[in-house]
Amino acid sequence: MSDKKGLMAWVDDRLPVTEAYEKHMSKYYAPKNFNVWYVFGVLSMLVLVNQLLTGIWLTMSFVPSQEGAFASVEYIMRDVEWGWLLRYMHSTGASAFFVVVYLHMFRGIIYGSYQKPRELIWIFGMCIYLALCAEAFMGYVLPWGQMSYWGAQVIISLFGAIPYVGEDLTTWIRGDYLISEITLNRFFALHVIALPLVLVALVVMHLLALHEVGSNNPDGIDIKKNVDENGVPKDGIPFHPFYTVHDLVGIVVFLFVFCGIIFFMPEMGGYFLEHANFEEANPFKTPDHIAPTWYFTPFYAVLRAVPDKLLGVIAMAAAIAILFVLPWLDRSPVRSIRYKGLLSKIAIASLVVSFIILGVCGSLPAYAQPPWLAPVMTVVYFAFFLLMPIYTKLEKTKPVPERVTG
Ligand code: HEM
Repeated sequence: MSDKKGLMAWVDDRLPVTEAYEKHMSKYYAPKNFNVWYVFGVLSMLVLVNQLLTGIWLTMSFVPSQEGAFASVEYIMRDVEWGWLLRYMHSTGASAFFVVVYLHMFRGIIYGSYQKPRELIWIFGMCIYLALCAEAFMGYVLPWGQMSYWGAQVIISLFGAIPYVGEDLTTWIRGDYLISEITLNRFFALHVIALPLVLVALVVMHLLALHEVGSNNPDGIDIKKNVDENGVPKDGIPFHPFYTVHDLVGIVVFLFVFCGIIFFMPEMGGYFLEHANFEEANPFKTPDHIAPTWYFTPFYAVLRAVPDKLLGVIAMAAAIAILFVLPWLDRSPVRSIRYKGLLSKIAIASLVVSFIILGVCGSLPAYAQPPWLAPVMTVVYFAFFLLMPIYTKLEKTKPVPERVTG
């Protein structure tokens, strides 16, 4: 029992609210040298909340049936009060989610945030990424446009490449012999309730794991090694109020850009909402060019880079799976790119270049690109990971300072 009085003391004796607030906010000591790369975690949370809230209101008017889905989205856009805004906040929000999450992951790569003792934070992050991909894929099917239908057709049929069980598996996923209302209904259930629950639970685990070991920083220094007489890290500052206020700046800048896109180019020239999706799904008319939304195109390019269907599916799955084991591929004695050697810098630059070129390849039809480009970039992408144990061990690193720099 606490000796404090009042309502808060009464609550605290029954539920440790103040203790949790102190542990995660006012007495969570974050390194004082965070830079702009550290805002994308908070922005990911902001976009998650945006998706959850706009999703709830969209669900109020959306009709998850083969007959009604496309028309209900048109109804939301034209007749529901502020419906167009809700829809664009949600559809643009999906792309914004991937922008901030990719930048957030890249921060982890340049500052070695996945290294010991933060492996589990990274693993939870990767699980979030997978859940997010599934969430985005299923969400895109719901408006029942041409690309919803044919995109789902392409992706689900990939499972058919798995030997022995493949065909049965595709039927099981669709719930039917072809993509139908049954598929739409289950995707709706998964998109609206199951996956959001999984995502939120994973984000909570991600943050609990982070607060257990503490945040990394651009220098990759362990700030807990340098503490004052009260055990407070000398290079740490309380998360609240310092970083809550600091993050507000990033949030405002983000909202300016986000609103600019929503109001002036919500479809982003076909990258956020593809042109073919403004036409209702038609199982008898295959679109000329089927491509996933931009955030999947790098992996789609890996799939197409391998001529054999099964090997292509394996390569695509491996391109994502290999990220899970990143903490165990890096043998460097230092975390941050600031103190790593030239080889690591070249490797990270090659990763970025290959990922972007693969993204472009995946969005173009096969005939509109040199046939060697995606296969070569696939090799470069995998080389970053597979050679990592070698180049991180071989290269000469710079000495890491005792205390954080600016
Ligand atoms: C919904 C998606 C996500 C949310 C809401 C989220 C949230 C956060 C937040 C708030 C932080 C602390 C602030 C910061 O360091 O930026 C953080 C840290 C971190 N996240 Fe995420 N995250 C998400 C996805 C991911 C993904 C996909 C990965 C990687 C696969 C990842 C890896 C990490 C790592 C390694 C850290 C620790 C960084 C450090 O201390 O330097 N996160 N995350």
